[in-house]
Amino acid sequence: MIQKRVLTGITTTGTPHLGNYLGAIKPAVKASQDSSLSSYFFLADFHALIKCHDPERVARSTREIAATWLALGLDTDNATFYRQSDIPEIPELTWILTCLCSKGLMNRSHAYKASMDANREAGNPDLDDGVTLGLFSYPVLMAADILMFNAKHIPVGKDQIQHIEMARDIAARFNHTYADLFVMPEPMIDDPIIIPGLDGRKMSKSYDNTIPLFCSENELLSLIKQIKTDSRLPGEPKDPDSSTLFELYSLFANTQETADFRAKFEQGIGWGDAKLELFESLNGYLREPRQRYNELMQDLNSVEVLLNKGAEKARDYAAPFMREIREATGIRPLNTTLVGAGKIEPKKKEKSAEQLANAEAGRRRAILMQLKPVLDQVNSAEDKHAAAAQLIAAKRVEVEGLKKKAQQKAQNELELLLEELAPYLDR
Ligand code: TRP
Repeated sequence: MIQKRVLTGITTTGTPHLGNYLGAIKPAVKASQDSSLSSYFFLADFHALIKCHDPERVARSTREIAATWLALGLDTDNATFYRQSDIPEIPELTWILTCLCSKGLMNRSHAYKASMDANREAGNPDLDDGVTLGLFSYPVLMAADILMFNAKHIPVGKDQIQHIEMARDIAARFNHTYADLFVMPEPMIDDPIIIPGLDGRKMSKSYDNTIPLFCSENELLSLIKQIKTDSRLPGEPKDPDSSTLFELYSLFANTQETADFRAKFEQGIGWGDAKLELFESLNGYLREPRQRYNELMQDLNSVEVLLNKGAEKARDYAAPFMREIREATGIRPLNTTLVGAGKIEPKKKEKSAEQLANAEAGRRRAILMQLKPVLDQVNSAEDKHAAAAQLIAAKRVEVEGLKKKAQQKAQNELELLLEELAPYLDR
């Protein structure tokens, strides 16, 4: 089975709330448990510095987000869960990409334009006021996050689509200038569920209307009591479909519970009672993960250990890939004769047999590195013959469907796979 590589980052500036849970965390936790996916999830703490210069807040948010994802069952064996700042290859790649990225592309970034608009509206003649180079070039950091792992599927909100397009642009520029090393990423957009906040508007930190996922029971109850309702009295029928209370309830309850709650609205349940029911239901849903969350927050060493393991796993991929990337750009040890695939082939004197063998070995290593996950899968499959045959068949189909340049790359992979898997295939 060829795993789909999925990658997404979470900026560490806030405390996870119910909206984050339903929109991002829940689907990611599910993906982390799916063995057909190779998921990369990371705490984007370098991104946090773009908009937040409060060190305590960044550190607290990083702890809270890490503990939240783990408490909700993120499978760190199957997925790779790490902290961006633990991967030194990411800022390294950011610089290389920065040198390829045209300034004009960044001028078009929505985040940058929004800051300029805010200055214009405030009558500030300096449209760049308050804009750091970090904010300006933040799409390049994001491109590096993605390209560092050659991830193809990027689950993001609609507001991030432009950044994925920019990452594609930058990747194409690299592939064209140096060597065909990067996969083109694609945004993966789920149907957005709008989760209402306390005031009925979309739940969002910027509206200050959130319900933190793991606040205490007392706080949960007191926040629920603040949810906006109308002035209908107990006994008067109420419209569930225009009620924030009802909507929140239905997002966490099953179909039967939701139908029962709807009937109570029509029968005129009082707002106070409806709030208590919402509290009971939500609290029941959150009780266990909240307990695990509190335990993890008391045992941050164990969270740190998991993150370190995740970083190691991530760097198993990033470090050798970074060597290839450096090599392609000409950042090489002085005595390197070894060259990678494609464009970097220098037009120079004839090479000795040893140099050619080295180059071939390097090329093999580079391809094998990319194939490692699928090879591992075959090696650990119960029926290795069937797994190998299936992988080869899928690769052949892929080769057929590709354009010339990509086809050569896939063909090379196919040949190596045939060699590596020969013991399983011949029988
Ligand atoms: N910028 C993203 C956000 O604000 C977070 C993020 C950082 C990200 N790096 C990423 C998302 C890479 C996907 C891939 O939501």
